[in-house]
Amino acid sequence: MSVRFAVLLSGSGTNLASLIDAAAAPESQAEIAVVLSNRADAYGLQRARDASIPAVHVSHRGKDRQTFDTDVVEALRSYNVEWVLLAGFMRILTPVFLDAFPNRVINIHPALLPSFPGIRGQQQAFDAGVRIAGATVHVVDAGMDSGPIIAQGAVPVLDEDDAESLQKRILSVEHRLFPMVMHWAAEERLSVVDRHVRVELQPGEQRHLWGG
Ligand code: GRF
Repeated sequence: MSVRFAVLLSGSGTNLASLIDAAAAPESQAEIAVVLSNRADAYGLQRARDASIPAVHVSHRGKDRQTFDTDVVEALRSYNVEWVLLAGFMRILTPVFLDAFPNRVINIHPALLPSFPGIRGQQQAFDAGVRIAGATVHVVDAGMDSGPIIAQGAVPVLDEDDAESLQKRILSVEHRLFPMVMHWAAEERLSVVDRHVRVELQPGEQRHLWGG
């Protein structure tokens, strides 16, 4: 029996593409059961359709946050989703959502948290002049990118970088990091107790990756 994931996004969905590929591997226990967006024109929805995955649009327009979250939870429930992966979902979640999937909402952020939370983490890191940047996969809590960290991927910042080349390097490590965590969740090797993340690692696995 596969474990059912929803992927929520607002944009292009390159992370979704890496999750779809990873879920399709023969040994995978993960299934992307639905992809949902608050934007009807999100290219990620098209990627889902191309992969024959249900693609659902739930508009946030004219709704307060709780009403939007209630609508999203209802949609996800109808697909019997067990885990929710946020892959560029540009909405802040309320307790309505988080309480529906306790400790089972996971986000990917394009910076090494707790540095550079919020929007455009890569640009913030570039502007700060850090020499090592990266991405973080974490459990979502009610704060802004403040939930317990599951795994991180680090990449160098090179002298010749601009914000765009750095963003690409971070994205490439994201594409390895998020599927890795999805598999841990699908294989029931990931647990969170009192904000403490535990992963039953297999030989050769780590909770960090080096990219570059
Ligand atoms: C990624 O940088 C992710 O870290 C952030 O949103 C971006 C989504 O990119 N949360 P994509 O749509 O998966 O290409």
